[in-house]
Amino acid sequence: MKYFKNKLKIENVGVHTLAKKFGTPSYCYSYRQLKSNINSFKKNFSSFDPLICFAVKSNTNLNLIKEIKKFGLGADVVSMGELMLALKAGIKPKKIVFSGVGKTSEEIKFAIDKKILLINVESQSEIEEIEKIAKQKNKKVDIGIRLNPNTDAKTLRQISTGKKENKFGVNDKIFFDLVNQCKKSKNINLKCLSVHIGSQILDHRPYERMLQVIDRIIYKANYKFEFIDLGGGHGHFLYGLKNTEL
Ligand SMILES: Cc1ncc(COP(=O)(O)O)c(C=O)c1O
Repeated sequence: MKYFKNKLKIENVGVHTLAKKFGTPSYCYSYRQLKSNINSFKKNFSSFDPLICFAVKSNTNLNLIKEIKKFGLGADVVSMGELMLALKAGIKPKKIVFSGVGKTSEEIKFAIDKKILLINVESQSEIEEIEKIAKQKNKKVDIGIRLNPNTDAKTLRQISTGKKENKFGVNDKIFFDLVNQCKKSKNINLKCLSVHIGSQILDHRPYERMLQVIDRIIYKANYKFEFIDLGGGHGHFLYGLKNTEL
């Protein structure tokens, strides 16, 4: 976004022109920035080619999600509505992860029926509910457990998710108990350790600290996780692009 002769432009299109054409208020997204962010992620993590999931909560515009899907991304959803939206955008169920605290039984049933990649649980009661539903359906459900790593993301307090006072995830002790609970279950297949420390993170150090915690937990849990779901969104300057470059 840039001013040219006092006129605000986004990707060389004047916002006045957009306002005339579409009226106000209108939302305007930069495809160039979207593409650049996705490619930057892909490039930086190319050595292990991860599944990159878009957090649907951050933008529920169907057309935007359809574009994101074209880059091969999956979806991180936190409600049945978001899950439906991701599916509607054409994202394959095996590229969808259902996170979030306090999923309802209806949401869990829907996620199981759609055979999504993972349901990431955030509490013991959620595991119990999944176990109950999976038993009724005579299914084995793939899940992740979200660990609260008690790591400060050094971001705004309101968008921090990985400190012990934040509502997300479980502490180490509960984590180990839940791993043991899953080991005994016939209807749950524990595949993932999930972690998310916050949004708009502008520094690499919180990620390093989070990785150190995970390393210790995996070693102690003595369990082979097929997936590690890493989260904490970057603020824009970590992409190496200044927002004036649009
Ligand atoms: C599991 C999970 N995924 C995604 C997000 C969205 O944030 P970001 O896009 O910054 O990772 C959050 C935020 O709370 C979250 O808890």
